[in-house]
Amino acid sequence: MSGMELGFMVPHPWIMVAGEIEEGHHQKTTSAYRLVKDVIADFAPDVMVVASPHWPLLSILRVGGAPRYTGTLDEFLPHIHAALPPEHRRDLPPVPYDFSGDAELAERISEAGKEAGLDVQFEATPESLDHGSIVPIMYLDPDGRIPVILLSNEEGSPERSRRWGEIVGREITRSGRRAVFIASGTLSHRFVFDSPDALWPEGEVWDRKFMKILTDGDLSEIFRLPDGEIAEGELEAGGLHGLYMLFGAMRGDLSASVLSYDGIVGVGSPVVRFDQKVPAV
Ligand SMILES: [Fe+2]
Repeated sequence: MSGMELGFMVPHPWIMVAGEIEEGHHQKTTSAYRLVKDVIADFAPDVMVVASPHWPLLSILRVGGAPRYTGTLDEFLPHIHAALPPEHRRDLPPVPYDFSGDAELAERISEAGKEAGLDVQFEATPESLDHGSIVPIMYLDPDGRIPVILLSNEEGSPERSRRWGEIVGREITRSGRRAVFIASGTLSHRFVFDSPDALWPEGEVWDRKFMKILTDGDLSEIFRLPDGEIAEGELEAGGLHGLYMLFGAMRGDLSASVLSYDGIVGVGSPVVRFDQKVPAV
């Protein structure tokens, strides 16, 4: 069956692709990521749609449809390092990536978005990619077997992102391809930075509230989370928009399974699986 039947929300700790997390104590995240990798390998999608909150926001909906993406993550890391306290900066080994895109489908999705009146920009020329995209792609498909379509997160209304996701999902169904949606994203960024596992109480409260929505089953509540609370938690650029797009792309009634939750270098980091309760038609 074609379409978007499977989706995940995953964090993107860049230390993971640099090997550190394997040696560290965030075993729940590592184990959950491995599980997701195995599930996707079994699912064998034709395309993986990856929404990143770190693809620079331009107040437009960007679609990455280059035929191939090659480079090294360390081209992007100086941007991250500039925002880190000096004691957390480190020299990382080159982290190469090499995977194909799905230019034809990405362009079709872009055109459909424009026809629907959305401000969409199709980008066929690859640029240096961010850790929000690269960490999930490298970890979930290290051999680069699955073509990828990149989406940026934008800061408009949750409903607009959901509508955009619907268009993405509809065009994938029309193409006859089977896809998995990866909403790269994290929760509160207000943990105590110098002590990675020491939760900042209000950040923890907000994260627990969010995770409870996932486990209690009424996912529509995520669309009603007050903007002020999201800002208070200092969620990264784009906030929960990757998730809003995922809900739109998968349509129908979804179930969520929380696979893990860790605080990693000050950031609430969940791994969550989403399935259609009844496949959308
Ligand atoms: Fe991030």
